[in-house]
Amino acid sequence: MRIGVLTGGGDAPGLNAAIRAVVMRAHALGHEVFGIADGWAGLLGENLPRPLGVREVAGILGDGGTILGTSRTDPRKDEASRRGVLGSIRRAELDALVAIGGNDTLGVANWLHEQGVRVVGVPKTVDNDLSETEFCIGFDTAITVVADALDRLRTTASAHHRVVVVEAMGRDTGWVAAFGGLAGGADLILIPEIPVTSDDVVRTMKRRRAMGDPDILVVVSEAVEIKGLEAETAVDRDAFGHVRLDQRAIGAILARDIEQRTGLEARQVVLGHLQRGGSPTAIDRLRATRFGNAAVDLVEAGRSGVLPVQRAGRIETATLADAVRETRRLSDDYIELVRRFAGLLP
Ligand code: F6P
Repeated sequence: MRIGVLTGGGDAPGLNAAIRAVVMRAHALGHEVFGIADGWAGLLGENLPRPLGVREVAGILGDGGTILGTSRTDPRKDEASRRGVLGSIRRAELDALVAIGGNDTLGVANWLHEQGVRVVGVPKTVDNDLSETEFCIGFDTAITVVADALDRLRTTASAHHRVVVVEAMGRDTGWVAAFGGLAGGADLILIPEIPVTSDDVVRTMKRRRAMGDPDILVVVSEAVEIKGLEAETAVDRDAFGHVRLDQRAIGAILARDIEQRTGLEARQVVLGHLQRGGSPTAIDRLRATRFGNAAVDLVEAGRSGVLPVQRAGRIETATLADAVRETRRLSDDYIELVRRFAGLLP
């Protein structure tokens, strides 16, 4: 079989580990693998996918980024692109595709499956908001970055008796802010799943200082709406059509509000793409290896329109349609943990 592999959407630590697993498992089964450059964009031009042998993926297990490149291209956007992508798959004589990505990439994969292409997905997004799976590739590294940042910020915040607001990624959900914030001992975690007003935050800051806290660390998820505070509204959209959440500048706006209304000195840090860069954690390498391995087994078994997922620690199979139907919000037990350990004070 000739199997194409691509990585799409925002990059995430562990993509190379997944590519390596796909290539190694496919070759072990006697198949050929072809790497598609830059996500779906790589199927829109004239370039043909390049052969990927076991030698090409040796030594990439711990590397960040993706050797294939990625993009936020949506090939469904017009008729020419739709025809282009299907034509490229035919021209490259690919029998099957493995698409490693999050909601956007796997939404396109599901569309291709509906067009008759044999496609299997691999769940990847630092946001961890794909339905059907407990964890996605990249999430563990992202929350480790948030926790490490909080450890560092704690000492400088404490030295200056400051409030430090840390903005974390998460397009629609608070997974990264909640897990990273709890692991790093944040004093207040603001996530889309818990409604909040600017008065709530100010009251909590004052109470904490009155209780004698010398330093206060606040983690705010980039998508949070804070009633009474206006985030930037003149924001651009990315190639897929999503609002550029970094341009909302909610962390900066919140830090200024806290400083002005409480008199406490406040600073802000946007962790941004630090959360997606660099070497994957051991957990992300293992998850990527399990998912990549299982994806090829699904191709081998003749499956399409499916992806391997993790449920109760085990690798199972879900449909792409179910995985992308809606974003998976933070689970109730973690929402409660946030309220108890890093919640608003009365
Ligand atoms: O979807 C993953 C994500 O990392 C979001 O958390 C974030 O809002 C967005 O991508 C940033 O995308 P870009 O790399 O295009 O700036």
